Amino acid sequence: MKIPPTLLTLLLSVTVMGAEPLAPITELKFTWVDPDDAAVAEIRQVGEDAITFVGNRLIRETSQVLAKQTAEDAIDVLHLKNLTLPAPATGKPHITSVKRTSLLVRSVANAPDNADLAALISIQKEMMDGNSPPKVLVQHVPAAGSVPEEWRVYRPISVMSSCVVCHGPTDTLLPSVKTKLEKLYPEDKAVNYSVYQWRGVIRVSVAAAPAKKP
Ligand code: HEC
Repeated sequence: MKIPPTLLTLLLSVTVMGAEPLAPITELKFTWVDPDDAAVAEIRQVGEDAITFVGNRLIRETSQVLAKQTAEDAIDVLHLKNLTLPAPATGKPHITSVKRTSLLVRSVANAPDNADLAALISIQKEMMDGNSPPKVLVQHVPAAGSVPEEWRVYRPISVMSSCVVCHGPTDTLLPSVKTKLEKLYPEDKAVNYSVYQWRGVIRVSVAAAPAKKP
C-alpha cells in the first residue's frame, strides 16, 4: 500500500503501547478548550497550519536525509534542528514554540510536561476504547507571573515506513544504529514501533493576536 505523504491522512493503528507514562517535569495549570469553540477558531487554525507545516517537514526531511546518508549518520541530523516557521501574519495569533512529545520518548529533552501528558493520555484512552484518536486537542495555559498565557494545539502523529529504521523493533535495527542510539540516548524508549502505530504528538504553542488598538 502506498502511504500518503502527510500526517493528516495517516491511519493510526489501534495498538497502544502499554508503557508507564513519564513523570511530569513541571506542573502547569491548564484547562481543556473545545476545539470547535468559535472563540478559538483563529488560534486553532494558526496552530493546525503550523502543525501541518512541521509534520510535512519532518517526513520530508527524514526521507531526504536517509536518501543521502546512512541511518547511523542521519541520527546526528534528525529532526528539525534548523526549523523556521513561516512568518506570522500581522494581527494574527502567532506560534511561540514547537514540540514533539510522546509517552515513549527518545530524548529526555522531548519529555512531556503535565499538560502534554494529559493530552497524550486522552489520546491513548480514546484508542484503547476503540475510537479513532482526536484530530486536534486544544488547551489553555493561563499567564503565570512573567510567563504570558499560552494556547496549546496538539495533533497525533503516527509511524511511517521511513521511521522504523530508527524507531522500529530493536531486533530489526541495524547494529550500527542500535549502538549509536544506545550511546546517545541511554534512556531511549522510542523503539519497538511498527508502521501506522501512534507515535506521539506535534504540539505548537500559540500566543493570541495582540489586542487591536482602539
Ligand atoms: C535516522 C534515525 C531516525 C529516523 C529515520 C527517524 N527518527 Fe525520529 N528521532 C530520531 C532521533 C535521533 C530523535 C531524538 C532527537 C530529536 O529530538 O529529534 C528522534 C525523535 C523523534 C521524536 C520526538 C520525541 C522523542 O521520542 O524524543 C518524534 C516524534 C520522532 N522522532 C518521530 C519520527 C517519525 C514520525 C519518523 C519518520 C517520519 C522518524 N522519527 C524517523 C531519529 C530518527
